[in-house]
Amino acid sequence: MLESLVNRCQALPAGSTLCILGAGFTGRRIATLADALKIRVITTRRNPAPGSDALRFDTAHNVVPNESDLNGVTHLLSTIPPGSDDNDPVLQSLGPRLSQLPLRWAGYLSTTGIYGDTGGEWVSEADPPQPTQERSRRRLFCEQQWRNSGLPVQILRLPGIYGPGRSPFAAIRAGQLTPVHKPGQVFCRVHVDDIASACLHLIHCSAAGQHPPVVNVCDHEPAPSHLLQRHAAELVNCDLPEARAYAEAEADMSVMARSFWSENRRVNNDLLCRTLGYTMVHPNYRSGLAQCLEEETLRESLTGTARD
Ligand SMILES: NC(=O)c1ccc[n+]([C@@H]2O[C@H](COP(=O)([O-])OP(=O)(O)OC[C@H]3O[C@@H](n4cnc5c(N)ncnc54)[C@H](OP(=O)(O)O)[C@@H]3O)[C@@H](O)[C@H]2O)c1
Repeated sequence: MLESLVNRCQALPAGSTLCILGAGFTGRRIATLADALKIRVITTRRNPAPGSDALRFDTAHNVVPNESDLNGVTHLLSTIPPGSDDNDPVLQSLGPRLSQLPLRWAGYLSTTGIYGDTGGEWVSEADPPQPTQERSRRRLFCEQQWRNSGLPVQILRLPGIYGPGRSPFAAIRAGQLTPVHKPGQVFCRVHVDDIASACLHLIHCSAAGQHPPVVNVCDHEPAPSHLLQRHAAELVNCDLPEARAYAEAEADMSVMARSFWSENRRVNNDLLCRTLGYTMVHPNYRSGLAQCLEEETLRESLTGTARD
C-alpha cells in the first residue's frame, strides 16, 4: 500500500532534511512516506515514546529541541495547531531558530474552516477568509504570522482528515454510529495519503518556481456525511439505523460537533489539481474508504486484534 504511494512520489534532492513538527496522525504518515523515499526526516512529539527517535518539543512547557538537533534542516512542516492564545506556538518558541536554517520550503497545515460558511457554495484560495468560529479566527491569525515570518512558507488548507485508524468502520461495527441528515449540508474531506503526497508535490513545484502562498488540499467530492457512512457500512456488511433529522439530533451534539454542522461549503481544489498538476490518490470518499478498510484489515491481521 505504501509502495504505490512511494511509486508516485519523488524523493528530495540529496542532502535534504525534512523536519516535521508534530508527528501526530498526519505528521507520522508524512514521515513514513519520506522514510520510504529515503529522505532524511526529523520529527517531534510532546512526549516521545521510550526508544522513539522523535525529538521532544512542547511549546506549552517551553521544551524545545537543542540548537544542533535542527542543523541542516532544508524543508519544514508544521502540523501543530494554534494554542490558547493568538500567537502561533511554533513561531513563538522556535521562530528565531527557524530563520537561521537553510530552508527551501516551510509548509504550515491549516484548515478550510477559515473560509467560514458559504451556504454550500464553492470557495477557493482567491476568496477572502470569513471565519465564523473563534478557533478559525485564531487559525487565520497563525496563518498570517507564518506568511509574515520571512520563511519560504506555503499554507496548506485542509478539510476533515481521514485515513486508516481514523475512519468510521470501528464505530459502525460497534453499532455506535447513527447518521444525521441536514438537507443541503455537505462536508469536504481529504485522505491522509493525499496530504503526504501533496506535500512532496508542492515542495517540487516550489523548487521549480511555482509557489502559491496558499493551497487547498481536499478531494474532488464534497458530500453529505450520511452518504459516506452508508457506503462504509455496505463495505463491512453492516446495517445502519435510519438517519436522524439534524433538527432533532442537534440537541445531543457537543458544542464542537454543532460548530462543524453550522458551516456548509464546497472547497475547490483547482489550484492544486489543475494549476499545479497534482493527481489525487483518493479523489473521493469511496476510494479513500476502500484504502482505509484494506489497511485496517491488514493491521488487525498483523496484530491479531479480534473483531466481534
Ligand atoms: N483532524 C482534522 O480533521 C483536521 C482538519 C483540518 C486541519 N487540521 C489541522 O491539521 C494539523 C494536523 O492534523 P492531525 O489530525 O494530524 O493532528 P494531530 O494528530 O492532533 O497532530 C498534531 C501534532 O501537533 C503536536 N502538538 C500539539 N500541540 C503541541 C504543542 N503545544 N507543542 C508541540 N507539539 C504540539 C502533537 O504532539 P503529540 O504527538 O505529542 O500529541 C501532534 O504531533 C493540525 O494542525 C490540525 O489542527 C486537522
